[in-house]
Amino acid sequence: MEENNALHSSKMLSCPVCAALHIPQEGNLKNGVFTGTCQSCGHFFKFRCNSSTKSSITITVNGKLYNVGSEYAGSSSLNTFLRDSRISMGTKYMCKEGGCGTCLVQAQLYEPITMESKSYAVNSCLVPLFSCDGWEITTIEGIDSTSDKAIPKRLAQYNGSQCGFCSPGQVMNMHALLDFHGGGVTKQMMEDATDAVICRCTGFRSILDTMKSYAEENNQHVPDIEDIRTKHCDRTGQICTGSCHRQSSLLALKDAQWFRPTTVDDLIKTIQDNKGKNYKMVFGNTGYGVYKELDPLNYSILIDLRGVTELYGIDFDSTIVLGSNLSLTQLYDVLYRGAGEPLYGHFKEMCKIISDVATTSVRNLASWAGNLMLKHKHPEFQSDIYTMLETVGAQLEIAVNGESKIIPISQFLSLDMTDNIIIAMILNSIPDSHHVRIYKVNKRNQSAHSDVNAGLNFNIDVDQNFLVKSKPTIVFGGISKTFVHATKTEEYLTGKALGDQNTLKGALSVLTQEVVPDDSDPVLTSAIFRKNVALGLFYRFVLDILGNKAGSVFRSGSVPLTRPLSSGKQSYDTIPIEWPLTQPMTKVEAINQASGRAVYINDIAGQPGECYAEFVLSTEANAKIQSIDPSEALKMPGVLKFIAAKDIPGVNNVAPAPAPAEEVLAVDKVEYFSQPIGIIVAENSTAANAAVSKVKVTYTDQQPPILTMEDAIQKKSIFPKVADELKVGDAEGAIAKSAVKVSGRIQCGNQYHMAMETQITICNPTEDGFEVFSSTQWVDRCQKSIAMVLGIPDSCISLSVRRLGGAYGSKISRNFVVAAGCALASNAVKRPVRLSLDFHVNMKMVGKRFPWMADYTVGLSSDGLLEGIKITYYTDCGINPTENSLAGVSIGMDNAYFCPNWHVIPIALKTNKAMNTACRSPGSCPTIFIMESIMEHCAKILGKDPTDFKVQNLYKKGQLTPVKMPLTYCNIRELTSQLIQSTDYENRKQMVASFNQANRWKKKGLSVVPMKFGIGWTGGNYTALVAIHGFDGSVSISHGGIESGQGINTKVIQVCASTLGIPMDVIKVKPTDSLSTANSTTTGGSITSELCSNAVLQCCQALNKRIAPVKQKMPGKPWKDIIFQCFSENIDLSERYWEAPNTQYTFAYNSYGVTLTEVTLDLLTGQHCIDRVDMLFDCGESMNPEIDIGQCEGAFVMGLGYFLHEEIKYDQNTGEQLTDGTWEYKVPLAKDIPVDFRINLLKNAPNPIGILRAKACGEPPLCMSCSALFAIKHAIEAFRKDIGKDTYFALDAPATVERVQLACSSDTAQFVIE
Ligand SMILES: Cc1cc2nc3c(=O)[nH]c(=O)nc-3n(C[C@H](O)[C@H](O)[C@H](O)COP(=O)(O)OP(=O)(O)OC[C@H]3O[C@@H](n4cnc5c(N)ncnc54)[C@H](O)[C@@H]3O)c2cc1C
Ligand code: FES
Ligand code: FES
Repeated sequence: MEENNALHSSKMLSCPVCAALHIPQEGNLKNGVFTGTCQSCGHFFKFRCNSSTKSSITITVNGKLYNVGSEYAGSSSLNTFLRDSRISMGTKYMCKEGGCGTCLVQAQLYEPITMESKSYAVNSCLVPLFSCDGWEITTIEGIDSTSDKAIPKRLAQYNGSQCGFCSPGQVMNMHALLDFHGGGVTKQMMEDATDAVICRCTGFRSILDTMKSYAEENNQHVPDIEDIRTKHCDRTGQICTGSCHRQSSLLALKDAQWFRPTTVDDLIKTIQDNKGKNYKMVFGNTGYGVYKELDPLNYSILIDLRGVTELYGIDFDSTIVLGSNLSLTQLYDVLYRGAGEPLYGHFKEMCKIISDVATTSVRNLASWAGNLMLKHKHPEFQSDIYTMLETVGAQLEIAVNGESKIIPISQFLSLDMTDNIIIAMILNSIPDSHHVRIYKVNKRNQSAHSDVNAGLNFNIDVDQNFLVKSKPTIVFGGISKTFVHATKTEEYLTGKALGDQNTLKGALSVLTQEVVPDDSDPVLTSAIFRKNVALGLFYRFVLDILGNKAGSVFRSGSVPLTRPLSSGKQSYDTIPIEWPLTQPMTKVEAINQASGRAVYINDIAGQPGECYAEFVLSTEANAKIQSIDPSEALKMPGVLKFIAAKDIPGVNNVAPAPAPAEEVLAVDKVEYFSQPIGIIVAENSTAANAAVSKVKVTYTDQQPPILTMEDAIQKKSIFPKVADELKVGDAEGAIAKSAVKVSGRIQCGNQYHMAMETQITICNPTEDGFEVFSSTQWVDRCQKSIAMVLGIPDSCISLSVRRLGGAYGSKISRNFVVAAGCALASNAVKRPVRLSLDFHVNMKMVGKRFPWMADYTVGLSSDGLLEGIKITYYTDCGINPTENSLAGVSIGMDNAYFCPNWHVIPIALKTNKAMNTACRSPGSCPTIFIMESIMEHCAKILGKDPTDFKVQNLYKKGQLTPVKMPLTYCNIRELTSQLIQSTDYENRKQMVASFNQANRWKKKGLSVVPMKFGIGWTGGNYTALVAIHGFDGSVSISHGGIESGQGINTKVIQVCASTLGIPMDVIKVKPTDSLSTANSTTTGGSITSELCSNAVLQCCQALNKRIAPVKQKMPGKPWKDIIFQCFSENIDLSERYWEAPNTQYTFAYNSYGVTLTEVTLDLLTGQHCIDRVDMLFDCGESMNPEIDIGQCEGAFVMGLGYFLHEEIKYDQNTGEQLTDGTWEYKVPLAKDIPVDFRINLLKNAPNPIGILRAKACGEPPLCMSCSALFAIKHAIEAFRKDIGKDTYFALDAPATVERVQLACSSDTAQFVIE
């Protein structure tokens, strides 16, 4: 029976028998007919229902139409759909909060300026799947990857893909930009758009070069206000909104309703209908990236604003009315067009600040109205848009209870917005006599929320000594929940002349009183910093207004730093006769990576019945576990099992003896916040995710966590003797006799590795054990860890890894717990299991780079030679000292300087943090930084130029290092003098000095950092297996290293091709696995590429010997025929080699390098610009200069992150890591790299000890990035000299904007006009 049932007024269906309300649940409504069974009375019925209700959407991906309904949760993201349906495995994800960009796809969205649909890069992790009805999506799989103009191909050719995990995102970002502009983009536009995708590997230079190669400088269209289309409706005569053709609709899903109104009236009605219910309006859904409570998962009713075309209105008449559905990108485009119009000059300032909000792709999605609503919901939010609109005195049109109301923006925050809608903003003209500026100070140059933002709008009479004619506007964001206007200062300044120094003095005094930043949120920068910045920005504005009236030396304070377009230069040797060795070429896998075809572990299709596991984590840092109760979790649908430590069949330990045990799951004590306590296994990730929070854990004996090294020292939280003291000569005696003594303390912090692929393992039960795919740098030990916890032989575990999406040390051992946890889950349910750490969990649960601290005393001769150094190193191990580098401090403690007497005391501190681990140049990076800090300190005390002092103490050829290694081939002196000459250092030093003399508020700094880096081979055991296939002569290689972006596979192929004399394209490297290359050690320490290359070299040489007799018999015959003949003659065409080096000295050889960095510093804010970097690095006879330059650039930029940006904060009471996402933890982006980035590999420098004359380069260049910190320090010193505070100060790492600003010691007394 078909019942002709009209939709209920709330758009739900009513059962004709019992009148229960339903939403259609069972598939599509076909021809308007729905069949179903009433869930209340069981009546089976058919509805002919209103066509505006549907139960599925259509979405076009790469030209193919998909129908999607309740098989996906109503809160699903576009990313979930693309990946779960396996439509686009090239589209990755990491953060799921808009901060990383690995998930970018291209979407056709309505563009109200031209009233057309246009291409935008968007974050598929933020886009709700069910807002995509009718959308056209292009993913990495849908674009050209083969033609010469293809972006993936060019990214690969420019060496812009190392681990490749970010590459599809980079490509889609470029693709959408080019598509939007029809190709006509400038280099600047390209560079501006690189804010959307993090790359942790390349250092961005190669990605920027790729992007800029598409720029058409002469083909740029300057957008104009006339371009804005205003089609008028034939029927109403009003501006066409395009909405009259569309019908509002309801998408009814199992777990959510999506309303899609198309008119404001319908929107208001929908809201009225749903008053009091748990609904959320959605435009870009990017607010969820900032405030997790806005996750669509938390709402059963979602009201999609995108279809309301009236809200895209752009009315550019006497007043300017801009609809609330304009994205930030579109708002920028509109204002940019208006900025040239009389009385709208302030639009330029508005554009500047908008382009500094979030990332290009987030701005493409996000509405300005959504941004204001975040501020409304969270008044502490540092909204740049709110500050901007307050500054220009905007008005808002708001639908209040269905009635349109216009309010000044100043009333917005106090208006109850429940059930109200922002309809539009109204912008007024501002007379030219007004001076409007909007500033933003943040942690990095792109994609970082404001620490402080400021907007100032003054009506000035220049001719009356800069009289403030009317009450000015002074707005600050980031101060506190309630602070908006500096009202007292506004009042004070009204009618006063800014040209009078006393006015400034008085205003600063009032402002100092009224700006009182809230210091209650420990994740934010300090109150004192934010206050300094607010005062500094006010001073900046006054100097800007005064122009030439201000003394010339102070004028540099009037503008923020500007960053020119960046560029890079590279130079290196190549020896064509040796090709493919020494040949610059890109990674063999680069094109697969850039085109989304490369398979990472999470891209491997699940086996039938695959389940999902997640860790239950502790919420205390130093307590005893009293009870664990999983009963609630186990009752949840889809939850299969809870595993606690007692359920482990083998041992609860992933660290085989003699290493100290490392628990997989805490037994009766938790030592850090987010320590794994149990594992939930469920049918899918949603169920597992929901269940972990339902496991009830109670604690007793809670103790305050130890979180700092100072606290650990004070509480004697020290691991017993993890390394021996090192004594060379008599340091104490030498220091006592020295003419000059210098003592101090210096420290450097944690660093999160930020591998874009988080820790992951897939375990599939097999007939003889488990097949495992795991993100590990150490196959052998990962296999062992799994076998130990399961209590089975290692041989039961078949483990393989094709590639890693970044590692940098994070997957040497920190993957073992994840692998073991996954195996425990798989063993418990006897089904395939996937355990992929959520990004935030990854950040909190997994250990990081060790923080270090050093107390030192140095003795110097009166003419500045190092005579004795006594140094106590402290390192913060977290809860387990296993991986500390204290025993290996000799790798970097002396850096490049000779000192005859050393006394080194190593102390390993225990803190209540996750066990720390190796991170790219683990021991050398901190110890070289510490030595450089000591050298800077000594130079200051001696009154010497730091570079001269360093050069004076550099090692000479043949001298012995503290570990008694003779520096037979040391070339650090030659390198340093070559760099000093080639960079015109002496002249630049003079220029910097002149600049600093002429400018008070901008200072420049130069720093030279030489480096010696010991490469240790001992223990670097790797197997290689080379098999020539008899039928066609092609070759397969398996080696013990793990490809994680460093190009190891390409290098071994080069070696193999060169040794066998065959083309590279017939050689393939297979995934590393636990059988063919058993017992290989970890990939790390920069040595794996060269040692695996040697293993392959040995295999190939042995094969050559075997093939030689046949070859001799077949002169001139092709390789393929010779091999087939060998095969026919039963010659073994496979060879295995076990590389197990044991060198005479601690280090096989040393890498040397030297770097000069120049920076400009903004003293008022602490922000910097790295103007230029010149690195000269001895890479021996580089096996592949293109790959090696990529390693130098990537390592250097990762180091810049460590030394300048990346800061981890903990809640001092609970021990919880607070910086656990992309919102607060800032790794470098493309505009944080040097503006002029020059990498030079030393020419004609074969390494007599190296494999094939090469030297390692994966880690050493990172250690020279501290030169940026020292350049900043020199700039601060120049300022402190000006203000009479020229005393030594330690600049700890990271030298964040905050730390740098505070180190300047500036105060308002120096804020003068002349
Ligand atoms: C990675 C990232 C970086 C960011 N960086 C910055 C930054 O540097 N500076 C800064 O200021 N902001 C920043 N933001 C915030 C960003 O600007 C906002 O998330 C965005 O503007 C919200 O717009 P939306 O359309 O996505 O809103 P949604 O997320 O869709 O909605 C947010 C809220 O607004 C409500 N809402 C939306 N439209 C209306 C309307 N018309 N009327 C009433 N209510 C409405 C929704 O119901 C919801 O409660 C960042 C965000 C992300 C994700
Ligand atoms: S996963 Fe989408 S931005 Fe990070
Ligand atoms: S290549 Fe960009 S993250 Fe690895």
